[in-house]
Amino acid sequence: MSAAIIDGKKIAEDIRREVKEAVLRLKAKKGIVPGLAFILVGEEPASQSYVRSKGKACDELGFYSVTEKVDVSIPEGKVLSMIDGFNRDPKIHGILVQLPLPKHINEQKVFEAILPKKDVDGFHPINIGRMMTGAETFYPCTPAGIWELLKRSNINPSGKHVVVVGRSNIVGKPIANILMQKREWCNAIVTIAHTAAPDLSYYTRQADILIAAIGKAHAITSSMVQPGVVVIDVGINRVVDRTTKTGYRIVGDVDFDAVKEVAGAITPVPGGVGPMTIAMLMMNTLKSAQRA
Ligand code: GUN
Repeated sequence: MSAAIIDGKKIAEDIRREVKEAVLRLKAKKGIVPGLAFILVGEEPASQSYVRSKGKACDELGFYSVTEKVDVSIPEGKVLSMIDGFNRDPKIHGILVQLPLPKHINEQKVFEAILPKKDVDGFHPINIGRMMTGAETFYPCTPAGIWELLKRSNINPSGKHVVVVGRSNIVGKPIANILMQKREWCNAIVTIAHTAAPDLSYYTRQADILIAAIGKAHAITSSMVQPGVVVIDVGINRVVDRTTKTGYRIVGDVDFDAVKEVAGAITPVPGGVGPMTIAMLMMNTLKSAQRA
């Protein structure tokens, strides 16, 4: 039997509608317009496209936004002083520096330069610490989106074995932390598997909920999962496809066509986790503006 498809596009649209309505209420009640600043270093096509989509979301939802596009050779100090300017700007409630950054810019220094209350990416060590201890904070947008997808699809991780494949600071580590917390819609038994595993399938086959965040096209095959598993595919990989206008197409970390025949539920790529990341960025920025 084929798996239920978790429609991230539809769920993200619902959230965007809710945020848009909340923005109108915030404007009417307090005269505050949520403001988001983007810093884009260099001209990497994927990063340009992500920042464009996020800017478009700001326009659609009634946010104020500023995008600073700067040359790849910009000195680190200039990026830090740009952040300082946004930290002081009362119109700005969220600051997002698009990753990856060129090698001469220290990512950690950049994260630490952003005021924690404007860190809508949830990458500041203070916010990471708050997340780990279960305190109220901004959760990084992709893990927040995964959690929201599960909640809105009525899939409760409590008592379930969640296997996360991938240990990145942006997805693997935070989603594991969130889902293991002792609170509603969490309380999962979590395993983090990664590239050092001699046999990844030993771990993935034990998953009730499998979260694939490896960054490798079709790395999870149907023989690596148990029947009925819930599969969350975080991958966004370009593969060559000469039948398309661009010459490529986007696929996930999961072999969707084969795995959907075994799984109980699955997110597609595109249209699964991807749209949720932007929706949660808007949600975090709204939250920051509401606190202002
Ligand atoms: N690059 C890929 N994902 C992200 C993200 O969530 N935030 C930022 N700032 N850059 C990214």
